[in-house]
Amino acid sequence: MASRTSRDVLGRGLAVLGVAIREQPRIFAVAVTGSVLFGAMTVASAFVVGAVVGDVVVPAIERGSVGVGALALAAVALFGISVLRVAGIFGRRLGAGYMQYRLQAAYRRRVTRRYLELPLSWHHRNATGTLLSNANSDVEAAWHPIAPLPFAVGTLVMLVGAVASLFATDWALALVGLAVFPALFALNVAYSRRMAPRQARAQRLRAEVSGIAHESFDGALVVKTMGREAQETDRFAVRAGELRDALVSVGRLRGVFDPVLETLPSLGTLAVLVVGTFRLRQGAISVAELVSVAFLFTVLAFPVRAIGWVLAELPRSVAGWDRVRRVLDATGEMPYGDTTLDPADPRPAPLTFTGVRFGYEPAEAHLPGTEVLGEVSFTVPAGKTVALVGPTGAGKSTIASLAVRLVDPRAGTVALDGVDVRRLTAASLARTAALVAQVPFVFDDTVRANITLDRPGIDDDDVWAALRLAEADGFVAALPDGLDTKVGERGTSLSGGQRQRLTLARALAGRPRLLVLDDATSAVDPRVEAAILAGLRSSAGEPGAPAASILVVAYRRATIALADEVVYLEQGRVVARGTHAELLATVPGYADLVTAYEQAEVDHAKDETYDEVAPLSSGLEIEVDR
Ligand SMILES: Nc1ncnc2c1ncn2[C@@H]1O[C@H](COP(=O)(O)OP(=O)(O)OP(=O)(O)O)[C@@H](O)[C@H]1O
Ligand SMILES: [Mg+2]
Repeated sequence: MASRTSRDVLGRGLAVLGVAIREQPRIFAVAVTGSVLFGAMTVASAFVVGAVVGDVVVPAIERGSVGVGALALAAVALFGISVLRVAGIFGRRLGAGYMQYRLQAAYRRRVTRRYLELPLSWHHRNATGTLLSNANSDVEAAWHPIAPLPFAVGTLVMLVGAVASLFATDWALALVGLAVFPALFALNVAYSRRMAPRQARAQRLRAEVSGIAHESFDGALVVKTMGREAQETDRFAVRAGELRDALVSVGRLRGVFDPVLETLPSLGTLAVLVVGTFRLRQGAISVAELVSVAFLFTVLAFPVRAIGWVLAELPRSVAGWDRVRRVLDATGEMPYGDTTLDPADPRPAPLTFTGVRFGYEPAEAHLPGTEVLGEVSFTVPAGKTVALVGPTGAGKSTIASLAVRLVDPRAGTVALDGVDVRRLTAASLARTAALVAQVPFVFDDTVRANITLDRPGIDDDDVWAALRLAEADGFVAALPDGLDTKVGERGTSLSGGQRQRLTLARALAGRPRLLVLDDATSAVDPRVEAAILAGLRSSAGEPGAPAASILVVAYRRATIALADEVVYLEQGRVVARGTHAELLATVPGYADLVTAYEQAEVDHAKDETYDEVAPLSSGLEIEVDR
């Protein structure tokens, strides 16, 4: 069983190399040409050395005279050979380097692009640490054997040339060559078989170590505040220890095989000398020929190792390649349609949910997936504001993700401006609908870059307009470098509320026709939250201002009161729809929920001072411009 899988590894490893050659055929040809030139010159050098011994050294010893002409000729030949060898090495190294790093770059790009194409459901099932290691160490591992590959291919050609010239010289010496070279090859194959499982294990542990490290750094706050440093360090140490053991076992195997691989060609030279002396005495070969062949075995010892390097790297390459392919071949991405909404259309776009059902895929395939949404239908009419209210876990964020097509429904349709979102192009969808998520994400860049995200047609005036609407212009203007201020990784230099308003401004700057706010202003005090929403609503329809229909997940009475309609959700079902006043009067669960939130706000306000201090009551009395 084990040997079958290892044979498999050899075959699959060669297939991976085939992929590399097909992707970079020209550079590969350059590198192999260099390598073959080097090989041919190596064999040639052996014969020149043999000729020098036969034509210059032996006569000099026998007759005491040095053939100056022959010596000069040999010197010129050796010099020429050296120059060509150097050229060969240069071409090979350069070609191999180019090929390896180009492939690495190409596959890093492909893997990361694939991450962004794959649906959220796929990301939920795959740890961030693993994704990092797929794009880094797995891609590197897959293309590791590329560096010695041209050398190895050139060496193969050289070996064929060497054996042919051996046969041309003497059959007995050729037989020695035929015994030694295949033995070297077999030894290399045995080596790579033993190496395969060890390398695969090491590669998997590399991913796990990076996964644990990523999680502990990501959760540094929790780790520190909960005093979990020792446990986290232990958890990491256990895996790091396993990785060490796996790598030590790789090293141990290498330690056993390397000397043997190194020794075999020397044994070959020894055999050549024994057999050769015998043949010399028989008069079958000349001294020059014997010296050539012995020298040939010496100079071949090193290049033959290149084949060993490639074979030894194959298992790790296959392990890395499998992990990379798992990402590239992952399915479940959501193909986009080809319908485009007029990008110049400034009107708010209505959003319609019709009989939408949804469930998250279970973490493990054999578990049943539970339904999170059952038959959800509602409409956000063009230019109107609908508040989505419901207890925690009711499915509000899920509806928000469906509205901007982060996920697709199991049944039913989500339509934007009357078009099923599955039929829209990616660009059209991104232009038309914007989600401000429950957890804000800020890039480690300037305020301006965080808002424009390199989208065309957003100038500083637009940025400031968006910041004003998000009630963020004040604090941004007060930042030391204004729009050019760097906000730190994940916006660490900003407060939670500032981060939220920055992500809101980012959504607004794109002038979406539908705005989905998933609890997007929870860290902002109630007065500012209500002012933001009022600003968004009143600016709808004004020339130059973002005109959007708004779906807002809301908790605070002041915010909810601004909505044209409230959709009340419980356990993935729409329980009631109507105005805030109607629901308060008719739906007991709704009244309880809103009152409970309000109580919590009041308690919160008593305990804490907001960064923008404002009496809570003013938030409740905000004038709404209808
Ligand atoms: N990635 C996920 N995988 C599996 N189940 C999920 C996932 N995300 C959410 N759920 C489940 O779906 C249900 C609805 O979650 P959702 O996030 O939509 O609730 P919510 O109404 O936004 O809650 P909250 O008010 O706490 O934000 C919950 O039962 C939750 O456990
Ligand atoms: Mg939520």
